[in-house]
Formats: sequence, structure tokens, C-alpha cells
Amino acid sequence: MTKTPAEVELLAESGRLLASVFAHLDRQPLAGLSTLQVNDLVEALIVDQFGARPASKGQYGYGFVLNSSRNEVVCHGVPSRNEVLQDGDIVNFDITLEKQGYIADSSKTFLIGNVAPTARRLVRTTYEAMWKGIRAVRPGAKLGDIGYAIERHAKRNGYSVVQEYCGHGIGREMHEAPQVLHFGKPGTGLTLREGMVFTIEPMLNQGRRTVRTEQDGWTVVTVDGKLSAQFEHTVAVTHDGVRVLTLRPDEARPAA
Ligand code: CO
Ligand code: CO
Repeated sequence: MTKTPAEVELLAESGRLLASVFAHLDRQPLAGLSTLQVNDLVEALIVDQFGARPASKGQYGYGFVLNSSRNEVVCHGVPSRNEVLQDGDIVNFDITLEKQGYIADSSKTFLIGNVAPTARRLVRTTYEAMWKGIRAVRPGAKLGDIGYAIERHAKRNGYSVVQEYCGHGIGREMHEAPQVLHFGKPGTGLTLREGMVFTIEPMLNQGRRTVRTEQDGWTVVTVDGKLSAQFEHTVAVTHDGVRVLTLRPDEARPAA
């Protein structure tokens, strides 16, 4: 479950490339594009520009390089030419990238044009919650400390945390042990050790936490139809704390 320093560096290189995919999307006007167009644009970047492999494509029979989860879609939304991004939408793009055999995984919820203050607050709080979880990572801490920090921040702000999907170890495989829950009790669960690499990827709902999967077998939506947001980073436990392998150039760590 732990990686050697050389493996962590390879994961960091994949993470750096993936971060620049997101930096590219930040500069790209998204309103008016279909989620399939965004998928194709990201595939071209990963394959042609970075000589890397979109790890999602082909995994579990999935045909795309990203998941696009818009508004009430919680996760695993499937890109479509019929789904055009519109002013006021929030949309998560969840992307994986493999380079030299090592996979990085990250997601960000984008605001399209003029987004309602209530939706902006959900997105901002979800981002903060992910960072609360990241800041709990250090050798000797427990997995439950991460989940607790995320859930506490969500609940304080009146949101619920989706429990059906979790973060995961990552390396040569996209999904490795351990499972990283986004809720829990402090001081419980696996003890973190230097060299562990995993994702932290909380999904926060405006309303109830209950979700259901649509007919396509992929798309997960909120049962009450209210909004959901998500952020994800791949992190490594270092000798004295945490290193965010998918950190984007523009990201400053939010204050406690
Ligand atoms: Co992901
Ligand atoms: Co993930």
C-alpha cells in the first residue's frame, strides 16, 4: 500500500500533467460547449500534448476520458453531445491520467457564467471540505481523521456528505486500497504512513445525502434533485505531512 520515493515522484509527474489539464480548462470558455466536446478537448491534451494515457477510457468498459457531473448529478456523469453547458450551471470534470505506468486522479467543479450565490456557496464549501481532509493527512494520523474533518465542515454549513462513494489508494491501478471515507470518527481506522498515496474526493449535497443511479448504469444523481458538488486531489503522505500531487499552479491552500 505504500510507495517508494521513486514511485511517488512518478505519481507526482502524472499529477503535474493532470494539473495542467485543469489549468487549460480554466482558460477555456466552457459555456456553449457540450460535455462531449470538453471530453474530446481533454483527450487531445492528454494524448497528443502530454503523450499520456487517459486511464478512465476502457476501465470498467467506460468509453470516455472524463466524467462530467452537472448540477444534480453527484458523480459518474457521462459526456454527451446533447448536454450543452449553460450559464448558471455547475459542472464537475473528473479526470485521470497515466504516465509511465502511474495514475493521477483529480476533479474540480467549474462555475459556468453567472451562478446563483447558493450554488456558489455549495461549491466553495465542498472545496474547503476537501482541504480540511487534506490538512488532516500526516504520518500517524488515522483515516477517520480525514473523514471527520470533511463531514464536520459540511454539516456546519448545512450540507450532507454522500456516503456511497469514497476516495481510494492509487498507483499503477486507479483504485487500490485503502478506501478513504468522507465521514467518520477521529482516531479510528487505518494509521497513515509515509509513502501512502490516495485520493480525497468529497461529494457534498445541498439537500439530503441519498443518491440513485440512472438507467444508463453510470450517472449518479441526488434523489431530491438538489445540487451536488465535488473536488478531488491525489495526495501522498510525506515524512512530516502531506504533498498534493495534483495541485494546480493557481491553488493556494485555503486558511484553516
Ligand atoms: Co476521480
Ligand atoms: Co478518484
